[in-house]
Amino acid sequence: MRVSIGSDHAGFEQKQALVDYLKGKGVEVVDRGPANDDRVDYPDYAAPVARDVADGAADFGVLVCGTGIGMAMAADKVPGVRAANIINPEFAALCREHNDANVITLSGRFVPLEENERILDAFFATPFGEGRHAGRVEKIMALEE
Ligand code: RB5
Repeated sequence: MRVSIGSDHAGFEQKQALVDYLKGKGVEVVDRGPANDDRVDYPDYAAPVARDVADGAADFGVLVCGTGIGMAMAADKVPGVRAANIINPEFAALCREHNDANVITLSGRFVPLEENERILDAFFATPFGEGRHAGRVEKIMALEE
């Protein structure tokens, strides 16, 4: 599995830790930056991660900002992306099972690192449920047309 990851300054510290966490689990990680915690604009980092997923260069994207909200808004503008801002493992599983989310956005300021690790574990462990959910996701994607 290949994961593209990025953050802004507010998510930088957790992004660095999550890169190590994922690599430790054998995940191939593409780090789209930033390389330090200088103040940056989150859409500039949401875009390359979202495009990696949309282009098939990565299976999933992970984005961390202060809340995860701005990252989700920005990533969802890229066609093919279904980004979800997630603050607990239960929602992480549900956004995969019901919504086939392919980008997860996390809060570096309001959710502790250990909880974000559990969130990523649930996200990556949960397959899309298909069945009744498939047509609904197709309807989401049809809104891009
Ligand atoms: C940066 O201050 C903050 O606005 C950003 O990290 C994020 O929370 C936006 O949604």
